[in-house]
Amino acid sequence: MQVAMIGAGYVGLVSGACFSDFGHRVTCVDTDAAKIEALRLGRIPIFEPGLEDLVATNLAAERLFFTTDLAGALEEADAVFIAVGTPSRRGDGHADLSYVYQAARDIARASRRYTVVVTKSTVPVGTGDEVERIIRELRPDAEFAVVSNPEFLREGAAITDFKRPDRIVVGTEDERAKQVMTDLYRPLYLNQAPLLFTSRRTAELTKYAANAFLATKIAFINEIADLCEKVGGNVQDVARGIGLDNRIGSKFLHAGPGYGGSCFPKDTLALIKTAQDHGAPTRIVETVVAVNDHRKRAMARKVIQALGGSARGRTIGILGLTFKPNTDDMRDAPSISIITALQDAGAVVRAHDPEGVEQARLVLDNVTYVDSPYEAASGADALVIVTEWDAFRALDLKRIRGLMGQPVVVDLRNIYRPEEMDGLGFVYSSVGRELSQG
Ligand SMILES: NC(=O)c1ccc[n+]([C@@H]2O[C@H](COP(=O)([O-])OP(=O)(O)OC[C@H]3O[C@@H](n4cnc5c(N)ncnc54)[C@H](O)[C@@H]3O)[C@@H](O)[C@H]2O)c1
Repeated sequence: MQVAMIGAGYVGLVSGACFSDFGHRVTCVDTDAAKIEALRLGRIPIFEPGLEDLVATNLAAERLFFTTDLAGALEEADAVFIAVGTPSRRGDGHADLSYVYQAARDIARASRRYTVVVTKSTVPVGTGDEVERIIRELRPDAEFAVVSNPEFLREGAAITDFKRPDRIVVGTEDERAKQVMTDLYRPLYLNQAPLLFTSRRTAELTKYAANAFLATKIAFINEIADLCEKVGGNVQDVARGIGLDNRIGSKFLHAGPGYGGSCFPKDTLALIKTAQDHGAPTRIVETVVAVNDHRKRAMARKVIQALGGSARGRTIGILGLTFKPNTDDMRDAPSISIITALQDAGAVVRAHDPEGVEQARLVLDNVTYVDSPYEAASGADALVIVTEWDAFRALDLKRIRGLMGQPVVVDLRNIYRPEEMDGLGFVYSSVGRELSQG
C-alpha cells in the first residue's frame, strides 16, 4: 500500500519507518526542509534506539522516501497520516491544533484521489469533525474519509511499541476506510495485536483517557512515597505489593520526581480543558496535574535539605536531563524545574546526560555540561540522579565518593540501595524509602 506521513517527528518518523518495514511504500513529508534533507542522507534528527538502522534499511530498499512536497506524496496514497505536533496552547492549556488544521488544508489542496485521512496526532474530541469540515469546505469534490488512529508508542521503545502494540485503536464508521486501515495494519493483526474499531470521537478520547490514567498512577505512587518517608515505609515494596494485583498492575508505579515529557503534561491539561468546556470536569485529573507540578519543585527542596538547608554557592552535579532514558527529548522534563529551582536557590549546576545535552542547551541557562558522570561528581557538594539511564546504574561508587567535595547523593529514581550507599559513606536520600542518617 502507499502511505503519506505528514510530520517526520518522533511519531511520524517511527510510524513511517515501521510501516515501510512492513512492506508498504511510505513517503514522509515535513515542512522542515533541513530535517528532510538530513533524513534523505540517512541522518536521524532525534535519538531513538534502532531508528537509524530501520530508516537506512528501508531507504535502501526504496520503500521509504522523504520530501517537502505533499502533492507528490499524495498522488498515489491510499492513506495520509497527520502526525504533526499538538503542543499546549500558550496561556490556556488547550491543545494547539494549528498544525493539524494546516495539514488538513494542505491535504485538501493536494488531494487527487480517494484517500483515507488518518489523524495520528493526539487531538481533542471533535477534531476529526473539524478536519473533515475543513477539507470538505476547500474541496467539495474530494473523496475522502477522516479516521482517528491515536498512537500509543513510548519514546525510547518506540519501534517495539509500534510493531508490537497492546492494541490499535481505529475510530471510524466508514466501511471503506475500515478496510484500508485493516489492510495497513494487517502485518500486526496477524501477530494478534487487537484492532479495536470505535467511533471517531471515542478513539480521540481513548488516547487522552489512557495518558491521564497513567499520569494518575504516577502521581498516586508519588504521594504514597511521601507518606512512606513520613511513616517509615518503603514505596518500592508498596508498589510491588499492590502491583502484583492484576487489577492494578505493576507498570507506572515507580516513585520519582514526577512525570514530564512531550505527552503527559500537555495531554492531561488538554483533557481537563475539554472536560471543563463540556461541563463534565475531570477533577481527579485536575488534582493529578496540581500534585505533579508541586512535586518537581519539592524535589529541589529535597536536594537543598540534603545539603543541610542551603544551596547558595554550592556545586550540584546532575545525572540525567531528559524526561526519561533512551531519548534526547527534553520537552517538560522534570530536570528543567529542578535545576531552575536549585539555581534560584543560588546553586551552581553541572550536568551530564548521555544523549540530551544538545536539546538541554536550548532550554536551560547557566549549566555546565560535562562528558561523564564522574566529571559531574568531581568537586560537587551533591550529586542528584534525575533520569535513570542504564549508564548510571552501575557507577564506580568508590570513585564517585573520592571525587566529590561532600558525599551527598540524592537519588530521585531509587536506583541504588540505601544500605549500600550508607556503607560506602554517602549521605544518601532517595524517594519514599527510609532516609539515610548520614
Ligand atoms: N512523542 C511521543 O512519544 C508521542 C506518543 C504518542 C503520541 N504523540 C502525539 O503525536 C503527535 C506528534 O508528536 P511528535 O512528538 O512526533 O512531534 P514532533 O514535534 O517531534 O514532530 C512534528 C513534526 O511535524 C512537522 N510539521 C508541522 N506541521 C507540518 C505540516 N503542515 N506539514 C508537514 N510537517 C509538519 C514538524 O516540522 C515536526 O517535524 C502529537 O500530537 C503528540 O501528542 C506523541
